[in-house]
Amino acid sequence: MTSTARAYPNIALVKYWGKADEDLILPVAGSLSMTLDDYPTTTHVTLADEDHFNLNGTDQEGKVSARVFAFLDLVRDLARERCLDTANASATVTSVNEGPTAAGMASSASGFAALAVAASKEYGLDLDLRDLSRLARRGSGSASRSVIDRFAVWHAGTDESSFAEQIDAPDMAMISVPVATGEKAVSSRQGMVATATTSPFYPAWITSTEEILLEMIAACQAGDFTTIGEIAEVHATRMHAVIGASRPSIRYLNSASIDVFDEISQMRRDGLEAYGTADAGPNVFAISRVEDAQAVADRLAPLTRDGEAKILYPGRGAHLLSDGEA
Ligand code: PMV
Repeated sequence: MTSTARAYPNIALVKYWGKADEDLILPVAGSLSMTLDDYPTTTHVTLADEDHFNLNGTDQEGKVSARVFAFLDLVRDLARERCLDTANASATVTSVNEGPTAAGMASSASGFAALAVAASKEYGLDLDLRDLSRLARRGSGSASRSVIDRFAVWHAGTDESSFAEQIDAPDMAMISVPVATGEKAVSSRQGMVATATTSPFYPAWITSTEEILLEMIAACQAGDFTTIGEIAEVHATRMHAVIGASRPSIRYLNSASIDVFDEISQMRRDGLEAYGTADAGPNVFAISRVEDAQAVADRLAPLTRDGEAKILYPGRGAHLLSDGEA
């Protein structure tokens, strides 16, 4: 038997940056995101004699596979708690990632969300959405949100209470503006530790994130696109500011990213409403109303690496695929 799952990346409108617990991956504050409808990760898990991980057709070793095997250990622990005879089984994990890996496209989010769904099924666990989100969180914090359809709030809290759940929000478009490829210099894991331990603005980042999350939840529930966009842009800017204040400084945005933020401001002055955000990498995403998405994409396409700004919409949370679909 093989279990197959698909998940999509998510882009946070209120960012997660900083852990209260490194091992359990508990965030210092809550966050809120939109799950995308493209750049899927599709993952097959099959019980086997030895743990094995293949990503995009290449067998993985070292740190990359160790992270996947440590995640399988968590799944095996859950199987043991439930006295399932899969508890001691190893597994082969085969993943295909259709987005650029580790360049601020949240491939770890789609990757661990898909792995949580496929592995829990293959090991015979019957997890509800909340427990799937808690499990995905242990692979990568932001993966807790990719389990959820459309828009998700991930709660700070304890191992029990830190999960993502769906929140109502108006339809909107997320326009991907890729300006660079390649692996990022500092992983989000390392960057978060550096920020927490050396950035003097970190305490203010935590309290302002808690406040902004409440404002963002209210704006989503009210369907207030303008407030959602404004808050998303200011919060992303604050994240890059608190990171930049680390010692030594860390900078994920490059000059091409800044040009995109400038063009987004210019669009607003021209009466085309869009807002910018960026994760731990140089690629920018623009947020717009659905009816403005094509106009925004047309304005930003010339600033991209390959001339294409892709329009994405709210997508499905991680889900199992049947044999025919896989
Ligand atoms: O889940 P991680 O460890 O890849 O961290 C993701 C952090 C950001 O993408 C920068 C912000 C977020 O909330 O997704």
